[in-house]
Amino acid sequence: MKPAHPNSKNRGFLYHLHPPLVSQNVLKFTHTWGLGGSALVLVLMQIVTGVLLLFVYSPTPEAAYPSIIALQQDVLFGKLIRNLHHWGGNFLVFIVFFHMLRVFFTGAYNNIRKVNWWIGLGLFLCVLISNFTGYLLPLDQLSYWAITICTGMFEYIPLIGTVIQKIIIGGTEIGKATLSNFFAIHVALVPMCLAILMPFHFWQIRKAKGVICPVPPPNSPDDAGVQKVKSVPHLVSREAVMALVIIAILFLLSVLFNAPLADKANPGLSPNPTKAPWYFSGLQELLQHFHPLIAVFVIPFFTVLSLICLPYLKFEKAAGGLWFLSKKGRRMGFVSAAIALVIAPVLIVLDEYIINISVLLPGVPAVVADGVIPVVLLMFFMMGFYKIMKNKFVASREEGVQAVFIFLLVCFVVLTITGVWFRGAGMALTWPWNLK
Ligand code: HEM
Ligand code: HEM
Repeated sequence: MKPAHPNSKNRGFLYHLHPPLVSQNVLKFTHTWGLGGSALVLVLMQIVTGVLLLFVYSPTPEAAYPSIIALQQDVLFGKLIRNLHHWGGNFLVFIVFFHMLRVFFTGAYNNIRKVNWWIGLGLFLCVLISNFTGYLLPLDQLSYWAITICTGMFEYIPLIGTVIQKIIIGGTEIGKATLSNFFAIHVALVPMCLAILMPFHFWQIRKAKGVICPVPPPNSPDDAGVQKVKSVPHLVSREAVMALVIIAILFLLSVLFNAPLADKANPGLSPNPTKAPWYFSGLQELLQHFHPLIAVFVIPFFTVLSLICLPYLKFEKAAGGLWFLSKKGRRMGFVSAAIALVIAPVLIVLDEYIINISVLLPGVPAVVADGVIPVVLLMFFMMGFYKIMKNKFVASREEGVQAVFIFLLVCFVVLTITGVWFRGAGMALTWPWNLK
């Protein structure tokens, strides 16, 4: 047998992921909710089910749809594997989004964790691209038209939009080249990026000596110095339970609900309404209210920019693992969310039926009437909201900024829900029970 290296403590693979001792705080389920670990389990499930799908799926316009039908009808457990892959992909967007929120609301993006925040953003992009490219692969009416809508949005990006659109589609309309591009990105490029970014992500967590944890007062019962436990088995066994729960939920979803499959794609007949996949519904809903340049370019651009720059914001008070900065921050968060839950639907309805700035200001260019004016009004509103919240709660700057962030986040969720459940034929506002 090969002798162990003199410096090696011969601890095994798991110690590449966890330090030998972890603070007891980390074991509390409430701390990270196991979301990062769940995301990892789902990515692994996607790889396993994806490889199984490859045995049957054919990436050509003629054969793609029939191969999915054959998979569902003639292959043992074919339908289940497709369901697992479909729900797994969608579940992953959800889990990764909540993981990102957990990182944000516990302030785990600062200092030593800065690089990991950026790697995380890269991972989020990979997850979105995986879902988006996978969406086209069955080549049914649903996927063909959803991808048509989404790739059409690129046209509104100034200067480089149409070039990017042509590269992605591989021409001027969705066809053979698009399917090849999406297939290659889906089964090779993105998995490769995930395979590079994920180990890097985990290494960074290890480098930061584990996940962020609120520092307990010295000599308190929670004092990290006193309450250290071995990560194997204490942490690892909890992670295993979490993984089994996630797999069980995924199987349950896949047994109960079939992945949607409409008729074969028909480029001559668009369904009404034609909707983007649910994770881009918020963006599609923005298009109903703002000039496309604002909805598709300006707002997403500044959102991504602020996410990238987040670790550079010099907060006086680092959250240090505390949820929502403080108890006051949490209360302000609830109030902001409640206000957004009222204001966002009201504004959507007003904009749909009553307010029409282009009609009120005839002769003003559409980009000003439907873009610049509403954005400036909203910016003034947000500044007022920040001031009022900060004064009312006698809060710090950080708590005020967080309240604004929560307000915008809830507005985005309302937009997404509206796009998914409240838009019917012609993208008119409809009750969910009237949707076909
Ligand atoms: C994070 C990783 C992944 C995500 C989020 C993801 C997501 C998706 C989604 C949402 C679909 C459409 C499913 C449907 O409604 O029919 C799909 C299809 C597909 N994916 Fe993936 N996927 C991932 C990784 C992979 C990998 C690694 C492979 C293969 C190596 C793969 C192979 C396939 C195939 C062959 C299809 C077409 C079959 C079908 O549509 O059911 N996927 N993927
Ligand atoms: C495929 C996607 C992802 C996987 C598999 C993943 C996995 C993980 C795991 C296992 C952890 C440690 C446990 C936990 O915090 O739950 C973690 C922590 C972390 N993740 Fe992710 N993550 C993903 C996406 C993201 C995203 C989108 C972001 C943010 C933009 C992010 C930022 C972070 C940060 C900053 C930490 C360290 C948190 C701390 O020290 O408390 N991750 N991730």
